[in-house]
Amino acid sequence: MFEFLLVISTISYVFSFENTLLGCYDDVSPGKRVSIEQYRSKEECIKDCFSKYYRYGFIYNEGNCMCGNYLGEQVSNGTCSECQSCDFKMNLTDTYFTGNLVPGPPRNFQVFNITENHVRITWQEPESVVEIIKYRIKAIVIHTYSSYSPYSPEWMYSNNTFQTELITLLPATKYNITLSTTSPDGDGALVFRVIETKIGTPDSIPTKPVIIENRGHQIDVKLLPTPNNNGPITAYKVIVINEDAKQDFDETILTSYNEANRNGLSYYITAELTPKEINNIFTVGDGQTYGRYYNAPLDPDVNYNIILALISRLHEVEKVVYSSGAVTGSGVSILNVSDDQIVGDSRTVIIGLSVAIGLLTFMLIAGIIGFIILKSRVVNRRHRLSDNQELTLQGPMIEVENNGYIHEDEHVPVNHYRNLKQKVRTIPSSQLNVEPTNLLGVGRYGRVNSAGVVENDNITLAAAYTIQDKKMSQETRKTMLQELDVLIKVGKHDNVIGLIGICETSYIMYVVLEHASLNLKDVLLGSRDSLPGRFSSMSEFQALDTAIQVARGMAYLDHCKIIHKQLCARSVIIAPGGIAKVTSYGIAQYFSHNKIPDYTRWTAVEVFKNYPPNTKSDVWSFACLMWEICALGATPYGNVANNNEIPEKIVRGLRLPQLQYINDELYQLMLDCWQLDYDERPSFMQLVESLDSFKKNPTVPYINFNTYPNFQYDQFYPDMELAVRPVF
Ligand SMILES: *[C@@H]1O[C@H](CO)[C@@H](O)[C@H](O)[C@H]1NC(C)=O
Ligand SMILES: *[C@@H]1O[C@H](CO)[C@@H](O)[C@H](O)[C@H]1NC(C)=O
Ligand SMILES: *[C@@H]1O[C@H](CO)[C@@H](O)[C@H](O)[C@H]1NC(C)=O
Ligand SMILES: *[C@@H]1O[C@H](CO)[C@@H](O)[C@H](O)[C@H]1NC(C)=O
Ligand SMILES: *[C@@H]1O[C@H](CO)[C@@H](O)[C@H](O)[C@H]1NC(C)=O
Repeated sequence: MFEFLLVISTISYVFSFENTLLGCYDDVSPGKRVSIEQYRSKEECIKDCFSKYYRYGFIYNEGNCMCGNYLGEQVSNGTCSECQSCDFKMNLTDTYFTGNLVPGPPRNFQVFNITENHVRITWQEPESVVEIIKYRIKAIVIHTYSSYSPYSPEWMYSNNTFQTELITLLPATKYNITLSTTSPDGDGALVFRVIETKIGTPDSIPTKPVIIENRGHQIDVKLLPTPNNNGPITAYKVIVINEDAKQDFDETILTSYNEANRNGLSYYITAELTPKEINNIFTVGDGQTYGRYYNAPLDPDVNYNIILALISRLHEVEKVVYSSGAVTGSGVSILNVSDDQIVGDSRTVIIGLSVAIGLLTFMLIAGIIGFIILKSRVVNRRHRLSDNQELTLQGPMIEVENNGYIHEDEHVPVNHYRNLKQKVRTIPSSQLNVEPTNLLGVGRYGRVNSAGVVENDNITLAAAYTIQDKKMSQETRKTMLQELDVLIKVGKHDNVIGLIGICETSYIMYVVLEHASLNLKDVLLGSRDSLPGRFSSMSEFQALDTAIQVARGMAYLDHCKIIHKQLCARSVIIAPGGIAKVTSYGIAQYFSHNKIPDYTRWTAVEVFKNYPPNTKSDVWSFACLMWEICALGATPYGNVANNNEIPEKIVRGLRLPQLQYINDELYQLMLDCWQLDYDERPSFMQLVESLDSFKKNPTVPYINFNTYPNFQYDQFYPDMELAVRPVF
């Protein structure tokens, strides 16, 4: 007996064993039947068929029992023996309804290759099945060492998927992995396996021991506990390193004091402590034994480094992390100790501090003198330049530092505006028609208006970015010049918005960029349409092709060493001819109606962890954009209303779900882009290749916009994608 929720009426039905005679049927039915061995009675036959999730039980004249899901043709509505006209017919069966309507349990459910956060699973179609809509997999947390609140992820797979890799599981966590089916008549029977992921390296480094008192032979240190989300905290080890010996520390040959002595090693484990013994003052060198380790007295003439190691052990797998060291003697680390901890070596500290203060004072004075000299020079130079200034933007030479749009390792100084100007086409103001009433929005440096560039008889649609130099701070101007330089470097690519040129009047400068009135988000939402049998007016080919074009544009930006950081459907425009162009990088951004796009839902996991974004963070966002294309402009994670909850959920493993109408290979490609380790994500070039191979294989439906029963659009929630902030 089991329950299911009837999707349409949301009334909960209980299936139970029934025993309803449907009549006498001949056994020419389309589906296969299985025979029940050891048939005893009619009731048992039907019960057996019910417990095997078959709809019907068939009893033959000879008393054989068979189960199946498809009826033959009805001959009479009583039993066959009561049927007078049936005598001459062969192979008739008394046919009973068992009460079951749903698929049986998937067969051969297996789990392979369990790692810290992955598991591979395979299965086969249930034995008894009429129709399956999807397979549903849940990973229910039974036990974890993680302090993150238990999160039980869920995945859906199409009915022709029989294997998958569950990624983003927590380490050292026991999961009940359940697999079941959904069918039009309710949820099918479930199978489950309990697995435990391997332990991970502890996610926090132990706090370095704080030296409380150094008495020569003995040193008192304060030890603090370390939290660990990736496995149990089994023990702590205190390690003593003779700093003066200048030996490299090799953790693989770390041993006890006596062993280390024998092997000529200058470091050893002096104590193994249980988690309970931590959080106390520990005396290194007290001559006692802790765990298996002799805590040998120290040599007062030696400078020691004392390290705390956290040991995490589960089922024979051990992971260790080490703190940095607390150096004894006159070492630098003592300067980090706060006042109340300075007890023993306070004299050293005071001397150290005095020297440091003296040094700092000297540097400060030197700095001030230097600054005064430099400042007077800059002022002089400015004076000279201002005489022949035709445009307010021409200031002193500015070297602009990296602001993140260029890879961190590229410290290329950005050219002076005048140098920039030489590389850019100057549009005569007579050829630029700015439409002052058609305000597209407000960019970072001023208004952005729709415009047309007139050449011969052609008019090219453009966006004119007003640069209001007078209002601009030195800092903003630097950024602006750098972003302009980025645009120049990008040059021309079909799938990237390009710079047409700049146009100066006596008091204003326009940066003129390509423009199109449609952005991808609007195109996607606009394609939601109920043509007969279809739920999008866009073709699957167009959807895939748009993704490829965006990937090409991004591969090109990557080649130019530009990190986009804000990739989503909104930041792609669709030019005439359906050409997708990546925009919203560098200068090419503007916001309308005081609403700024909020990119949280497209942001890569490492960015939430405060790592600087890199091109693989853009790859993450690109996969969200692919999902957005397939979902026809739906809001990612639309079931999570609050943007502030997104980062934690992503860190804990939330990923966008597989849409019912995209196939596994496409979804797998998205999952690859959402790998925790960004090195494992594909590059944009690889994405272009994979997507291209999908496009070249039109026989496999990667995406299918044909309407199916119970189809519903994933929702678009404008407010979740916008942060309301004043622009000025
Ligand atoms: C089924 O039984 C009813 C009477 O109980 C009868 O009216 C009907 O004709 C029967 N149908 C068939 C197909 O024999
Ligand atoms: C009828 O049943 C006999 C034996 O049970 C079998 O050999 C035969 O193929 C069946 N005929 C049909 C038409 O299913
Ligand atoms: C498990 O991993 C091994 C080695 O990595 C591999 O050879 C094997 O194919 C994997 N098994 C499955 C079912 O993926
Ligand atoms: C799988 O789904 C397709 C379309 O949704 C359906 O036509 C087909 O019958 C399903 N297959 C099974 C075994 O349920
Ligand atoms: C796993 O989950 C299923 C479904 O919730 C449940 O029936 C089963 O008892 C669970 N198994 C364990 C070991 O918890």
